[in-house]
Amino acid sequence: MKLRAPRNRTITLSDNDRDRLSEKLVRRYDSFRTDRPVDRTILGDYKDVVPYLPQKFVDLMILDPPYNLTKDFNGNRFARRSADEYTKFLRESFSSLKPLLKDTATVYICGDWLSSFSIFAAASDFFIVRNRITWEREKGRGAIRNWKNSSEDIWFCTVSNAFTFDANNVRLRRKVIAPYRLQDGTPKDWLETESGNFRNTAPSNLWTDLTIPFWSMPENTDHPTQKSEKLIAKLILASSKPGDFVFDPFLGSGTTSVAAKKLGRCFLGVEINEEYCLLAEKRLEMAEKDRTIQGYNDGVFWERNTLVDQIKKDLMANGHLRIRSPKLKRKTPDQKQINFGF
Ligand SMILES: C[S@@+](CC[C@H](N)C(=O)[O-])C[C@H]1O[C@@H](n2cnc3c(N)ncnc32)[C@H](O)[C@@H]1O
Repeated sequence: MKLRAPRNRTITLSDNDRDRLSEKLVRRYDSFRTDRPVDRTILGDYKDVVPYLPQKFVDLMILDPPYNLTKDFNGNRFARRSADEYTKFLRESFSSLKPLLKDTATVYICGDWLSSFSIFAAASDFFIVRNRITWEREKGRGAIRNWKNSSEDIWFCTVSNAFTFDANNVRLRRKVIAPYRLQDGTPKDWLETESGNFRNTAPSNLWTDLTIPFWSMPENTDHPTQKSEKLIAKLILASSKPGDFVFDPFLGSGTTSVAAKKLGRCFLGVEINEEYCLLAEKRLEMAEKDRTIQGYNDGVFWERNTLVDQIKKDLMANGHLRIRSPKLKRKTPDQKQINFGF
């Protein structure tokens, strides 16, 4: 067992967790067409699972496949391959996953600069590619003979021209640097509060407000490529409605399912590695008690390193500390009510 510093909050699994959570994992999928799976973590290879899932049930699919890098996922090694081979790998995934999507569905596909070339080539064959988000990845060592890689991409695709998108749900709260006022003295498009002056800005395709999960964050696990809940929350809030179905076939440590649960969406995830499935279930269990998403407070996203401002604002507004978790109630908690489209 790894020795960890006292303030290290990385989520780990005790023997008791393993026994308890292991029973929650779905290991058999042959009954899926009658027992509709909702809010579950499926242990398996998505290629084996997909044929048993209903068609056209997904509103939002988040794809975070292994990037075109050599990487060890707890014993399962993904080997870097030629760009053409990686494009082929993606094409095969998109081809098998597309039948699960509703005609109104959105798909986000994650990658780094090298994988991006293949993502665009493959995604264009199956979806309407609408944009590419680039986010600043503030972690990692500098390179001596190259530029340090500090960005990643998320490709925004839809199945058709009818899709959900609400930019107002994902506004970014920024400190106002130039506080212009109207002639009557009232603030022009910004908020004057006792805890500071802010503007809730429209979201762009360049994200610089994210932090990669690290040891002192309560969402951190030992998964080597864990995304932050804040990042996935943006995708979910922009591109789905409460009660919609969010699906992730490369679930990893469970970030998509956890963010979906906290935001009142139905979810389903597939992950090939049992350890990661158990971590996902542990995080889902923790989400029962704590629905906060670090960096999302008061219905807006906050810039990096603004926890003090968020606390100040809460203290001013409520007289006590209350980092506000989303109040979204899911409309369709009962799996029988979910429209699987068949
Ligand atoms: C980039 S990681 C996803 C990380 C995830 N977004 C998170 O926040 O933890 C990709 C994951 O896909 C899993 N994986 C790879 N091939 C798979 C397959 N054929 N079926 C299901 N999962 C697979 C890997 O074990 C790995 O955990």
